[in-house]
Amino acid sequence: MASPKILVAYYSETGHTRAAAEGVAAALAADLMEIVADDFRWPGVLGFLQRGWRALRHRGAAIRPAVRSPNDYDLLIIGSPVWVGHVSPPVRSYMESIRAWKGPIAFFVTFDGQGGRPTLADMAELAGRQPIARMSLSSKDRHDGDDHEKIANFVATIRSTMEQPPV
Ligand SMILES: Cc1cc2nc3c(=O)[nH]c(=O)nc-3n(C[C@H](O)[C@H](O)[C@H](O)COP(=O)(O)O)c2cc1C
Repeated sequence: MASPKILVAYYSETGHTRAAAEGVAAALAADLMEIVADDFRWPGVLGFLQRGWRALRHRGAAIRPAVRSPNDYDLLIIGSPVWVGHVSPPVRSYMESIRAWKGPIAFFVTFDGQGGRPTLADMAELAGRQPIARMSLSSKDRHDGDDHEKIANFVATIRSTMEQPPV
């Protein structure tokens, strides 16, 4: 069977989710797509509060039209930063925009200290199904160099699941 076509879609402001997305995409020979938001122009504390409030209220964000469609892929992997224990509004909006697509999905989140688990739960709820793999990467993982191993495990789970013949 030909290798599955995989898309990694992510949102990132300070580069952590982007770095993870790049690592995952490289390991799986996947296409990479950044979710671009036109909101959140405010810097500093006001910007932080705006972002946090939106995430807390389960609001989305104004995102640009996606340049790739999951219809062209066998698996969609979505990465988001954790914002106050929730999925980031741009990823929420992206996931809402592809709700009609029912293919296999995997998620990962990056965060500083806590909130990975509820954010992954947010993403499963938005998708309306459980992912075939999930990963959360903290700043401690990055600091301790554990992110590489976590990414390798995430990729291995995806590979083994995608290799299984359909039932
Ligand atoms: C508005 C806002 C809220 C955040 N809330 C959390 C949080 O609840 N828990 C946490 O550990 N980190 C939180 N962070 C930190 C980010 O999740 C973390 O730095 C993430 O890796 C950033 O990803 P990025 O570099 O791809 O933007 C928050 C950051 C922002 C901007």
